[in-house]
Amino acid sequence: MDRNLALEFVRVTEAAAIAAAEWVGRGEKKKADGAAVDEMRDRFNQIEFKGTVVIGEGEKDEAPKLYTGEIVGKNREPEMDLAIDPLEATDSVAWGRYNAISVIAAGPKGTLLHAPDTYMNKIAVGKKAAKVIDLDAPIKDNIKKIAKALGKDPREVTAIVLDRERHQELIKEIRNAGARVRLITDGDVAAAIACALPDSGIDALFGIGGSTEAVLAAVPLKIFGGEILCRFTPRSDEDKKNIEEHLKKAGITNINKVFSTNDMAKNNLLTFTATGVIDGPLLEGVKFYSDKIMTHSIVVRGTSGTVRYIKTEHKAYS
Ligand code: FBP
Repeated sequence: MDRNLALEFVRVTEAAAIAAAEWVGRGEKKKADGAAVDEMRDRFNQIEFKGTVVIGEGEKDEAPKLYTGEIVGKNREPEMDLAIDPLEATDSVAWGRYNAISVIAAGPKGTLLHAPDTYMNKIAVGKKAAKVIDLDAPIKDNIKKIAKALGKDPREVTAIVLDRERHQELIKEIRNAGARVRLITDGDVAAAIACALPDSGIDALFGIGGSTEAVLAAVPLKIFGGEILCRFTPRSDEDKKNIEEHLKKAGITNINKVFSTNDMAKNNLLTFTATGVIDGPLLEGVKFYSDKIMTHSIVVRGTSGTVRYIKTEHKAYS
């Protein structure tokens, strides 16, 4: 029978999420991230596969574990490319805020865009509005079209945006278009994916966030039939050069290219696995009890389109 590695990866994200959740609200960003990284790497190495990290904790010289290019897993087969974030939204954990997850997107070699770690401007939506968004169109037009596609009035559209100074104008434009704005302090991977889930109460994500986060969100959005459109927004000339060099390796010469789910996540043999660390729009966070720990995860598989929500009770050892 065909093996679903994403179901094995759920033990990896669960372990990483629990390790990170131990650090909620302790003001220790590095320790929270380090705990999740250690746990994710150890658990990967217990699984029979060969994974190449294509989006990870940074370049080899800046990240000792789960760096871009690191090989993980117990065996030589099957071979997979991995885009990972052991702790997406480190600040949410350090400061005990809303929305953090541990996440793995996987696919056969060459299926995930090797995006450099910088910023991208993004719009994400679910299936019904997938064909109507346009990164170059005014926000007002996007909201109007999204509303129409969803059978709503623009006033009933809820957009989620990272709460950043750079988004002041964007937030005004969304409000002027009639829509509601939900602000989050961190975590635009979960926020983008939530747009494709009917019960999340979120219809669209707008704004500039991490580029590696865009690839992570592109995988489940593609499987759900949703869309995320993004364009690199370099922070400096040096950053621009770095993006250009990265893209050249992927045969892309136009740095202004608009990337869609199909550019970032190719073919349908993709999987996505995430576990909540802190409650957010996608998943509930880790809950600690005297005798057990509860985790909530999502596992999505491209070949079948299956979406599994897994609630796990772990025995607490103290
Ligand atoms: P980390 O996982 O690196 O902490 O990123 C959290 C995050 O909020 C992402 O979800 C988002 O894409 C990015 O940071 C936005 O970057 P910035 O905080 O620099 O605005």
